[in-house]
Amino acid sequence: MRVIVAKDYDEMSRKAADLVISLMQEKPQLKFGLATGSTPEGLYKNLIKANKEGEINFKYASSVNLDEYVGIDKQNDQSYQYFMNDRLFDHVDIDKSKTHLPFAPEADEKYAKEYDELLDNFGPRDIQVLGIGPNGHVAFNEPDEKLNQRTSIIKLTDETIKANSRFFDSEDEVPKYAVSMGMGDAFNAKTLVVMASGKNKHDAVKRLLEEDTIYPQFPASFLKLHPNVYLFVDEEAYNG
Ligand code: PGA
Repeated sequence: MRVIVAKDYDEMSRKAADLVISLMQEKPQLKFGLATGSTPEGLYKNLIKANKEGEINFKYASSVNLDEYVGIDKQNDQSYQYFMNDRLFDHVDIDKSKTHLPFAPEADEKYAKEYDELLDNFGPRDIQVLGIGPNGHVAFNEPDEKLNQRTSIIKLTDETIKANSRFFDSEDEVPKYAVSMGMGDAFNAKTLVVMASGKNKHDAVKRLLEEDTIYPQFPASFLKLHPNVYLFVDEEAYNG
């Protein structure tokens, strides 16, 4: 795992963007795995800027996303579909028909299976963008005795509902379930671009870097098995 420490969020986002931009320049038909949340917003802003300035284009790129809330309309401004349109897809020259997110109107595993089929057809990604939760979750794979390899419907933990309530009017409005890629699919990319910013990620970053063990109660620990991980952190996440 290569660790890149930046002085703040903006610098972290720029450094992550520099890597993504160079990989896009090498391979225009790049297959992305994308993530939502506060962490990748700065990366996406840098990619939009590079696209507008002609440094990169998304014309031949395609993407899959890690996860989505269950029972939320795609047009709802809290949906991850909305987030991706608003923070990236609407502002770059990507063909939206080549961008994919899981979708589950209700908590039924059949929607997870549908996404697995889509992932199988899509194939391995070139880059997967990942955040890590304060509790070490990856996508919505929460700490547990067992982790899923493939897509499934996940009951969110109280900790994640609390963390995500900042985007909603109240904690009650946060959906209780999500549909999420499993650990096998989340890591099925040549290069993992992992980012963590701010003091509330310090414990997770410290555990990831200092512990030498891999265990499902800390899903991020499985990053140690991947041969090509870049971990971009800011000083607050690195030093606490
Ligand atoms: P965040 O979420 O980027 O909004 O902090 C990351 C995560 O919980 O995986």
